[in-house]
Amino acid sequence: MNLVRILLFATIVAVATAQCVVSEHDALIELYNAAGGPLWNNQSGWDTPASDHCTWYGVTCNHNGRVVGLDLTDNNLQGFLPESIGCFTFIKSLLLGENALVGLVPADIGLLVNMKYLTLAHNQLTGPLPAELCQAVHLQYIYLSHNLFTGVIPLCYATAFEFVKEIHLECNELEGPLLDFSQYDYIMEVRSRCNDWDVLCPLWTQTDAIVIECQGLCEDCPTPPVFECPPEIVNECGTYVLQ
Ligand SMILES: *[C@@H]1O[C@H](CO)[C@@H](O)[C@H](O)[C@H]1NC(C)=O
Repeated sequence: MNLVRILLFATIVAVATAQCVVSEHDALIELYNAAGGPLWNNQSGWDTPASDHCTWYGVTCNHNGRVVGLDLTDNNLQGFLPESIGCFTFIKSLLLGENALVGLVPADIGLLVNMKYLTLAHNQLTGPLPAELCQAVHLQYIYLSHNLFTGVIPLCYATAFEFVKEIHLECNELEGPLLDFSQYDYIMEVRSRCNDWDVLCPLWTQTDAIVIECQGLCEDCPTPPVFECPPEIVNECGTYVLQ
């Protein structure tokens, strides 16, 4: 019985303290390997793993060599975001939009507590919006539009981001209700059209002070990809589990 208790306790501790176990350098290599690196438009530096990652395409470091920016926008990324995306604890801007990323957003994205600017827009990401993102309390720009996210918006999204200026959720498969983002002091823009909630915009969206787009055509929204998850990576494939 004691052994069972010890194992149970050890498991709880392991879950509670889950965090990055690789260096930022190795986390970048994991991203390259998980997201189709050899197919990227610009792989400068990434294809020479022994080199200083601060010189790699899209990587910005501070004077201590910590990664503070990662901009791989429209660089033909295809594949998954690895858990180690949470390793860049100094990162201020994570720009991965306009690629072909699939699968779930790892919960460890919530470890990026210094992030101000996040875009995962224009990919084919699935599953729920991660509630863990609410730990990134300095976010000012949150662009998650044009993906295949499902489920309700985590309630904490309405209160966690004290400094948020823009939230883009349009063109997903999210369910209502659309949370009231007008409570945020610095909010300037909310986009939410083309999801699975009511076509009627909620009352708060009539606020004049904010640019709000909650209705409109969906022609530019993504269509679900014809993507078959290979059996060996079923766990990472979110909703695309083979029957
Ligand atoms: C690729 O990235 C490197 C490093 O940032 C840059 O010097 C180079 O101009 C880029 N190449 C292209 C074709 O954009």
